[in-house]
Amino acid sequence: MTLDKIREIISQMTLEEKASMCSGADFWHTEAIKRLGIPGTMVSDGPHGLRKQAQEGDHLGINDSIKAVCFPAGCGAAASFNRELITLMGETLGNECQAEGVSVILGPAVNIKRSPLCGRNFEYYSEDPLLATEIAGAMIKGVQSKNVGTSIKHFLANNQETRRMSSSSEVDERTLREIYLAAFEGAIAKQKPWTVMCSYNKINGVYAAQNKEYLTKVLRDEWGFDGYVVSDWGAVNARVEDLEAGMDLEMPSSNGVNDKLIVEAVRNGALEESVVDQACERILNIVYRFTENRDSNAVFDRDKDHEIARKIAEETIVLLKNDGILPLKENEDIVFIGKYAKEPRFQGGGSSHINCHKVTSACDAVAGMRNVTYAQGFNDDQDEVDEALMAEAVQAAKKAKVAVIFAGLPDAFESEGFDRSHMRMPNCQNELIRKVAEAQPNTVVVLHNGSPVEMPWINEVKGIVEAYLGGQAVGGACVDLLFGRINPSAKLPETFPLKLEDNPSYLFYPGEKDRVEYREGVFVGYRYYDTKKMDVLFPFGHGLSYTTFTYSNLQVDRESIKDNETVKVTVDVTNTGSRTGKEVVQLYVSDRESTVIRPVKELRDFAKVELQPGETKTVEFSLGKRAFAYWNTQIHDWHVETGEFELLIGKSSRDIVFTKTIQVESTVKLPVHYTLDTTIGDLMEDPNTKPFISELMKGSALFSDEPKEESTAASEAITKDMMMAMMKYMPIRGALSFGGGDMTVEDLKKIVDQLNNRV
Ligand code: BGC
Repeated sequence: MTLDKIREIISQMTLEEKASMCSGADFWHTEAIKRLGIPGTMVSDGPHGLRKQAQEGDHLGINDSIKAVCFPAGCGAAASFNRELITLMGETLGNECQAEGVSVILGPAVNIKRSPLCGRNFEYYSEDPLLATEIAGAMIKGVQSKNVGTSIKHFLANNQETRRMSSSSEVDERTLREIYLAAFEGAIAKQKPWTVMCSYNKINGVYAAQNKEYLTKVLRDEWGFDGYVVSDWGAVNARVEDLEAGMDLEMPSSNGVNDKLIVEAVRNGALEESVVDQACERILNIVYRFTENRDSNAVFDRDKDHEIARKIAEETIVLLKNDGILPLKENEDIVFIGKYAKEPRFQGGGSSHINCHKVTSACDAVAGMRNVTYAQGFNDDQDEVDEALMAEAVQAAKKAKVAVIFAGLPDAFESEGFDRSHMRMPNCQNELIRKVAEAQPNTVVVLHNGSPVEMPWINEVKGIVEAYLGGQAVGGACVDLLFGRINPSAKLPETFPLKLEDNPSYLFYPGEKDRVEYREGVFVGYRYYDTKKMDVLFPFGHGLSYTTFTYSNLQVDRESIKDNETVKVTVDVTNTGSRTGKEVVQLYVSDRESTVIRPVKELRDFAKVELQPGETKTVEFSLGKRAFAYWNTQIHDWHVETGEFELLIGKSSRDIVFTKTIQVESTVKLPVHYTLDTTIGDLMEDPNTKPFISELMKGSALFSDEPKEESTAASEAITKDMMMAMMKYMPIRGALSFGGGDMTVEDLKKIVDQLNNRV
């Protein structure tokens, strides 16, 4: 429907009707206005499956939803590093929504994994904003290609569950731009989600729902968002102010309470009616975009989608360690140990919880293989060693050629609603792994968890497979990977630190009462670990394959660019092993010298390529300004400092294969204003002021760099270097104290004026 037509409809609505349009009719529907033929539409969770509640609604996954298909959660989806695959997931979900009459699926969820403790990390993509936003964009593209909307969430700086409805995330401007906003930015600007969900928390003291700076200035004015903003369920705190800030649709319904506030505010002149009109326009635009593009042929074929979930799961499982034990041989005696071999943990708790139409476990997937036996090993309802189960597992491990333990985090350890309090797996599972590995040197651990865990047994097992929360078809995908029927190709979208205390947010997470300071700034994840050269358990981007890849021929199409130009980077990748495989080529950029404090490297692009044995493909990247820029808080914009940058091609953030240096020249002149406090060193560094200041200081005893002739033993300590440093850090006003009384303040002010005229 055209905007003119929508405006015409709005002009026929009463103020009460318009106010009612700005909040849900119930838990899941937008308001319908029968009198004017305006339909209501349904929205549903999200993000990795359809949680459509036909009856009683809730936002915690308590009441039943329809039978649906659970795809790999965000943690695994990001590990695929595969945009096309996640677009396929989006297309599949979009089709399911069409079949079920759901206008918007509530996802993707892109919040940055600031700490491994965040209870919702399993739903989120990465510690890296580029990876997060690219995967989110791929998902949005897929869903919306089916004329169904997405709701990218939770905007903004919602990186913990502790006090999520009241805590204020205190984040500086540059960190917000480079890390937390950036996770949303690419996906929103490029893929235009139909809706954005604002988070519960405050950002620097202002509730997300009330934050005009982000909901209007950044989201709409800068990024061109043109859909509606919906509140997270219950995130509205001051309805009228929220509406003015750009928070269009309140969910769920406030049962008319907040609608009345809107009407009153318009009646008493506190709120312009045009603000209400505008919110209605945005909401109706999306409502009609859905209702006018219904696909009456769409069918929710659960079995077919289960197979798609399996195909996706295949690329979300990361092979972390392999001391030659994997792939397993099809006919040797193997024991699967652990509750999760029979009942995999494949999804997390809370609003993303899917009522699965079926689940394939690893045991289901080996049902026909008589050489594979099973022992439960542990319980996961409480963290206590069950001696009988443990003894049985150890016995079975001894008898077999290989033991594969399916372990991980129980639901009680990670979920929406609360954060983890440590990074450990249950003791009973760690104990079991140790005992089994003692009895059977050929032990492999398969992990089902949504976030990093400590691995005290890492050196005692030969193989480790990170299956994340791989969706309802995870068992089949795991078994295929273990037996080498598929070749692992996923990479870690986050660093696994050795221990929780190593995490940069450790000291400040989850904050004090209603306030959490993001004091680590831009040093999130590998940006911190790599800059500090710290040992980690597994680095960002790490993941093994059953084949080998070599890189060659790193080329750039130019060695020097201006910041408004692009550079093309190409590299050849060859499969040098004997199996077909996929490799994730990662491109990082490092600023060699910078006046601002920057991470040692940052991911700027990635590509996944499939190669037959012996095959070579050329991977191409194109880097523009953003790849070299940092957020400059003086001009409130992206800025590139002129200088050399290294382009790093890597297999992980710690396995850099090739490096190439290019020169980037800034086309933006930062505004300069010198004062009496400006140092001589800064003036000497500025080519515009250097000649003037050198001239001025000629002959000055203080600034002379010649050592004094009559130097005594004591004054010999006054070296040239020390004098130079003194000069460099001396403010202009220092001439008053050290200039021998020749200068007055007025003289110096004149000099400052002259300097400012030169820049
Ligand atoms: C969650 C959202 C979810 C909503 C609706 C909230 O509690 O934070 O992610 O979409 O509930 O279930």
